[in-house]
Amino acid sequence: MAFFCNFTLTQTTSNSMINQYIHDNKDRFINELLDMLRIPSVSADKKFKADVLRTAEFVQARLAEAGADKVELVETAGNPVVYGEKIIDPSLPTVLVYGHYDVQPADPYELWNSPPFEPVIKDGNIYARGACDDKGQMYMHVKAFETMVKTNTLACNVKFMIEGEEEIGSVNLATFVRENKNRLQGDVILISDTGMLGNDTPSITTGLRGMSYVEVEVTGPNRDLHSGLYGGAVANPINILCQMIASMHDENNHITIPGFYDNVQELTQEERAEMARAPFNLEKYKKAIGLSDVHGEEGYVTMERNSIRPTLDVNGIWGGYTGEGAKTVIASKAYAKISMRLVPNQSSEEITEKFKKHFESIAPKSVTVEVKPHHGGEPVVTPTDSAAYQAASKAYEETFGVKPVPVRSGGSIPIVAMFKSELGLDSVLMGFGLDTDAIHSPNEHFGVFNYMKGIETIPLFYKHFADMK
Ligand code: BES
Ligand code: MN
Ligand code: MN
Repeated sequence: MAFFCNFTLTQTTSNSMINQYIHDNKDRFINELLDMLRIPSVSADKKFKADVLRTAEFVQARLAEAGADKVELVETAGNPVVYGEKIIDPSLPTVLVYGHYDVQPADPYELWNSPPFEPVIKDGNIYARGACDDKGQMYMHVKAFETMVKTNTLACNVKFMIEGEEEIGSVNLATFVRENKNRLQGDVILISDTGMLGNDTPSITTGLRGMSYVEVEVTGPNRDLHSGLYGGAVANPINILCQMIASMHDENNHITIPGFYDNVQELTQEERAEMARAPFNLEKYKKAIGLSDVHGEEGYVTMERNSIRPTLDVNGIWGGYTGEGAKTVIASKAYAKISMRLVPNQSSEEITEKFKKHFESIAPKSVTVEVKPHHGGEPVVTPTDSAAYQAASKAYEETFGVKPVPVRSGGSIPIVAMFKSELGLDSVLMGFGLDTDAIHSPNEHFGVFNYMKGIETIPLFYKHFADMK
């Protein structure tokens, strides 16, 4: 009994020390994030290469200041990986923190209410490209780590790997992981690069969809033609492309590529009933994105359509004349970028192959087509009965006052499946973003509340994980 009281007292003291430290340093924690958000680390566009590098150096410097050892920029064939670690006792569990310092392009700039790389705080939200995805969420880990180091409460060994190519498919991180298996040994991967249902309904992401991404090119005549002289007599590649794309969904919104659903893991009625218990309001959902109705695969509800079911979506389509006024032309070429979100047990390579074969087979003789595969990634489902999940669940429960619900997300973080296959490690996806944060969109933002909640919740994860291991 005496031991028990003592134990409780120690825990309470360390919790309040942590909270005090976070409280005292709140402004600095926010200002440092704003500084990082000012650097436009867009990985998709070569013209930002120097800024991408500067961001890596920024993260490196902050990690070292926070108390990490062996902090270095590990060169890859692309953008460097920021690595750092703190091994306090080899007999303690080791947490590998993953995040990304690169961001999506900010286009279209004119739709932003304030410039994307000049962060502002408005109504409790930090507005900037990367505020939520993933600079804000990644930096919570650096600040939570600093807090644990400075208050002497770090209960696990920590290894950080912060990459700069997540938004372009993590191709070189895959090589880094394969070549650094020893250095990356640990017990769990900890990631904040997802969201939760709401600020009063915390959730933990337990699944991510995979991805096959392709670009298609349809070629008709060998030059752009006068649409009066030739119109009606030759195939218009844009018309044909639209028909081909439209034919890839049937009247029930099933995807028509032969074999597309072959390996799709169907959920049991029990699992679907369990999913349906997560709070969701269709009216609010529609209102938030300005829709009068939703759309999707027959036989599935919205929450299933965007998580446990695969999709095929055009991300961009172009060709012909798109300038001011009218130009009468039949273009020589039409293009589209198409993504397919995959679910367990679909394979990205296999689906890309099936797409290519199908797309070529439905092309009329009047055009030629080419399919260029881009990046891919495998789907993943993470366990809810692991020590890491339980530790995360307890941590959220303490900071939010309610137990978080497990939710499978529709988004993709391709490297998570690789962590499992190459390192044998499960990930725990402790996201603090909201769907309304507009990631990848104009006016991306992240709540100051969410940022600070993340910094408070993460140290509790370490504590519980160490206790349970
Ligand atoms: N952080 C997102 C993924 C995400 C967001 C998952 C919210 C779950 C909830 C990540 O940065 C991302 O955007 N991933 C890309 C995939 C990548 C290969 C470009 C995606 O999902 O489109
Ligand atoms: Mn992300
Ligand atoms: Mn993203």
